Amino acid sequence: MLFGRIKPLDAIIATAEKKSLKRSLGPFQLTMLGIGAVIGTGIFVLTSEAAQKAGPGMMISFIIAGFVCALAALCYSELASMVPVAGSAYTYTYAVIGEVLAWMVGWALILEYAVGASAVAVGWSGYFIGFLKSSFGWNIPLWLSVGPSQGGIINLPAVFISALVTGLLIIGTTESARVNAILVAVKVAALTLFVALTLPMANGANFEPFFPNGWGTIGVIGAASSIFFAYVGFDAVSTAAEETRNPQRNVPIGLIGSLLICTVFYLLVAAGAIGTIGAQPVRGAMGQVLAPGTAELAQRCAQIVAGGVTKPLACSHEALAHVLRVVGYVPIGNLIGLAAFLALPSVVLMMMYGQTRVFFVMARDGLLPGKLASVHPRWRTPHVVTAFTGIAVIIMCAFLPVGTLADYSNSGTLFAFAMVAISVLVLRRTDPSRPRPFRTPAVYIVSPLAIIGCVILYLKLPLIAILVLPVWGAVGLLVYFGYSRSRSYVGRGIIEVEEESDPPIYGIGPT
Ligand code: ALA
Repeated sequence: MLFGRIKPLDAIIATAEKKSLKRSLGPFQLTMLGIGAVIGTGIFVLTSEAAQKAGPGMMISFIIAGFVCALAALCYSELASMVPVAGSAYTYTYAVIGEVLAWMVGWALILEYAVGASAVAVGWSGYFIGFLKSSFGWNIPLWLSVGPSQGGIINLPAVFISALVTGLLIIGTTESARVNAILVAVKVAALTLFVALTLPMANGANFEPFFPNGWGTIGVIGAASSIFFAYVGFDAVSTAAEETRNPQRNVPIGLIGSLLICTVFYLLVAAGAIGTIGAQPVRGAMGQVLAPGTAELAQRCAQIVAGGVTKPLACSHEALAHVLRVVGYVPIGNLIGLAAFLALPSVVLMMMYGQTRVFFVMARDGLLPGKLASVHPRWRTPHVVTAFTGIAVIIMCAFLPVGTLADYSNSGTLFAFAMVAISVLVLRRTDPSRPRPFRTPAVYIVSPLAIIGCVILYLKLPLIAILVLPVWGAVGLLVYFGYSRSRSYVGRGIIEVEEESDPPIYGIGPT
């Protein structure tokens, strides 16, 4: 039977209990872990894209995307508290709905993590280029700064940072809790400084018209679909459940706490940017709105700047630093650029590590070749899968714009979130008496709303990003039926409790 293969929840939990990972994380560290994984390219870079789509209405976009994520986080919390093991959405789906859909979720998580890592690398590149220019007066030529769709050839800085992160992961660098805490402090300080300087200067007139493009795909909901990327990563908290003290209480606090803090920051930052330099979309000669990430928009931006007018928010590759420079805080703008330059690589690292982690768990279930998960004798890292992931990330970030990559990543993430929301509902029906240390409140409202929210955001992505999911899914099904199904341990009746312990989860390596 197609949907008959379910991994018994008790076996998964027993596996988790055999693990030797130390339960050391409390609610504060978990929230830090969440914020560390969440704040990144989304707010530092994609704010420009959101402005191009929604104008000042992007504030509503931030609220919508944050709301959908909060609903998903409530669903994650119930499953993470019941099944405190690695693998996150993939593992939950395996236990609740079955192997085929779990495979599809794991496959979609490749979009979330690997494509997401490329998006953050491209976002970092924008700040790196700005940093070199503002600090040393060095200009990296356009053909080495952006991919073909924006008039360049290759994004060399993005390739460089992805290669560096891959190398670090191969030799066994995980980010320690201490380094994560420092980088979180850097990001939070940067955003706080931005808000403190810009909000008092905000001019109400800049918020008019508030909805220049309406609510459609190029409009408030479309911007929410893209800016959703700014919230991605909070699920890192649930993957750390195995290393959490009292996960039943602390995981939900970490998930929802980090999401709330980020939402408040994002709204304040958006208000500061709009209030100071405005956020009206850039239009073409016929008054049409130009799509973000296109050569037309890049050309129009170049024209505007050549005409001596201040570069609009929608044209900047380093949105927050740009705003501060325009309003006269040049050194502080450079400092914010430096903060992004320092902190974004850790988001690339977390996402790439998340990817290797998903591959690792899938290989452990027999769905991917065991070789992929082989561990390097000296560095004790899954070097094959890491190199493989790194090469894919490098190729994507070399040629594609940040917004496009973020949209592709979002299509996979939205699918995974929807599956988690479905799993919660199904499990309430199929296994109502299992203890639920955290219960999603009003689950029959929250879960369906989460699913509907994910579907709406997905449908408002640009068409190519919408198509990425089914095309990628079809490839995934070919692999599943061609390779994985016959090799699955569950399918072959091997449901053993794993003896070996995994490498530590990202964010919490040895200090
Ligand atoms: N939320 C993360 C970012 O914005 C992925 O970079």
